[in-house]
Amino acid sequence: KILILDFGSQVTQLIARRVRDAGVFSEVFPYDVSDDFVREYGAAGVILSGGPNSVIEGDTPRVPQAVFELGVPVLGICYGMQAMAEQLGGKVENGLVREFGYAEVRAHGHTRLLNEISDFTTPEGYGMLKVWMSHGDKVNDMPPGFKLMASTPNCPIAGMADEERRFYAFQFHPEVTHTLQGEAILGRFVHEICGCKSEWNMPDYISEAVEKIRAQVGNDHVILGLSGGVDSSVAAALIHRAIGDQLTCVFVDHGLLRLDEGKMVMDMFGKNLGVKVIHVDATAQFMGKLAGVTDPEAKRKIIGAEFVEVFQTEAGKLKDAKWLAQGTIYPDVIESAGKGKKGHTIKSHHNVGGLPETLNLKLLEPLRELFKDEVRKLGVALGLPHEMVYRHPFPGPGLGVRILGEVKKEYADLLRRADAIFIEELRNTPIPLATELAAGEGHGAFHKNWYDATSQAFAVFLPVKSVGVMGDGRTYEYVVALRAVQTLDFMTAHWAHLPHELLGKVSNRIINEVRGINRVVYDISGKPPATIEWE
Ligand code: XMP
Repeated sequence: KILILDFGSQVTQLIARRVRDAGVFSEVFPYDVSDDFVREYGAAGVILSGGPNSVIEGDTPRVPQAVFELGVPVLGICYGMQAMAEQLGGKVENGLVREFGYAEVRAHGHTRLLNEISDFTTPEGYGMLKVWMSHGDKVNDMPPGFKLMASTPNCPIAGMADEERRFYAFQFHPEVTHTLQGEAILGRFVHEICGCKSEWNMPDYISEAVEKIRAQVGNDHVILGLSGGVDSSVAAALIHRAIGDQLTCVFVDHGLLRLDEGKMVMDMFGKNLGVKVIHVDATAQFMGKLAGVTDPEAKRKIIGAEFVEVFQTEAGKLKDAKWLAQGTIYPDVIESAGKGKKGHTIKSHHNVGGLPETLNLKLLEPLRELFKDEVRKLGVALGLPHEMVYRHPFPGPGLGVRILGEVKKEYADLLRRADAIFIEELRNTPIPLATELAAGEGHGAFHKNWYDATSQAFAVFLPVKSVGVMGDGRTYEYVVALRAVQTLDFMTAHWAHLPHELLGKVSNRIINEVRGINRVVYDISGKPPATIEWE
């Protein structure tokens, strides 16, 4: 396995994903783990990530010295390269020219790491790499023992290698897709330099995970809050595979779910998979609590608190349950371990997780090691339908944050139908190949239709009325807004450039089929400055 030390780059997680894509297990830890931890971890290789700091400034992150004494290969990326250079006796200086974004790097292919890897050859016969570069500082003197591995005019030492000790470093980022040969370079590093085999695959993972869950819970009973979302669904399927009827799922319907969601979840888990699921219809209770409340944060708090209340009541009925299962995934784990990443609270998020400790249950989190795309692969391998596993994310407070202002059942019913039409049309509209390439940051790996080519799409209910005309009559009805975004991390997002014909069709269908709505608008705001949800 590969140890990745995180120096705070935005793209550290991508390193782990690339390494895992190469079939090798890898984990991310903060850069300041102890020397003992590094020695005991058992890494076949170490990768040092990029980061926002400057090694020139005194008190900035350094690599645990043990990393360089392990006798295993080390790859430094960006800040990782600079820290490596500085600690091994080289020199880092503040570059006069900063480089951000696309760059062409001359590959000095005499190293084992880059040998015969290049994108094109110059007329002079130099192998060149198209890469994504981002740096201010740069290495000016290599440490003793290193030779040049890559260079650009602005950054004469863009890569260096000490083949004896198997230490390698790049100023550019091989983990991002904009570095075309990144996969080849990281693959070469983990397979040939570190000697790792491709052993990280889903079928093996399932049998290991099943064994682990069995060993952990023994004969105890487990409860799980099933939301219908990808993470809790895959967790349920995996735990059910391991312990069958010792698992009971609780599915709380707060009346703010998408059209037919309850039925879909009950059919899928209850009927098809034979999982024990308690379906709680708490619509009336939630609507009661939400009546008259218009402030978005207040609504979120009420929905969150009510959810816990309902779940707790149900859990209380299952007397012999000792475990609470949650669909926590690896990015959640990294996120909560990460330091200095505390931003402002823009919205108080509500998840099925985060249930109170008063439940007095032990936590079972079988997806803690997995990235989202791995969770999806696992779901498919466990027999969940592709369509369910590759669904867009849906927020915990559900339609509660998509009905602006006061939530009423009447509004939720209208919104559900409008939303279902939008989603159906997105799924049914194929995306031409040329657009597919342009759409880039889509959702699934292959964008066969507009649903897969967008990361999240939904309708929003606006409780304002406007005048319209239908047939010969005047109408005075509500407005629905459509939102579709493309994003990789949901932190920033572009609005999707959906074809006008598609938007026109959706608008027509909603106005014709959903009585009570006579106007449809399309949201063309990016994030930032807007957010993805409207509340
Ligand atoms: P925003 O609106 O903040 O949303 O741009 C970013 C992503 O987070 C989702 N979201 C939530 N997910 N509980 C969740 O589980 C929540 O309370 C919540 N609020 C927003 C949103 O759908 C988008 O994918």
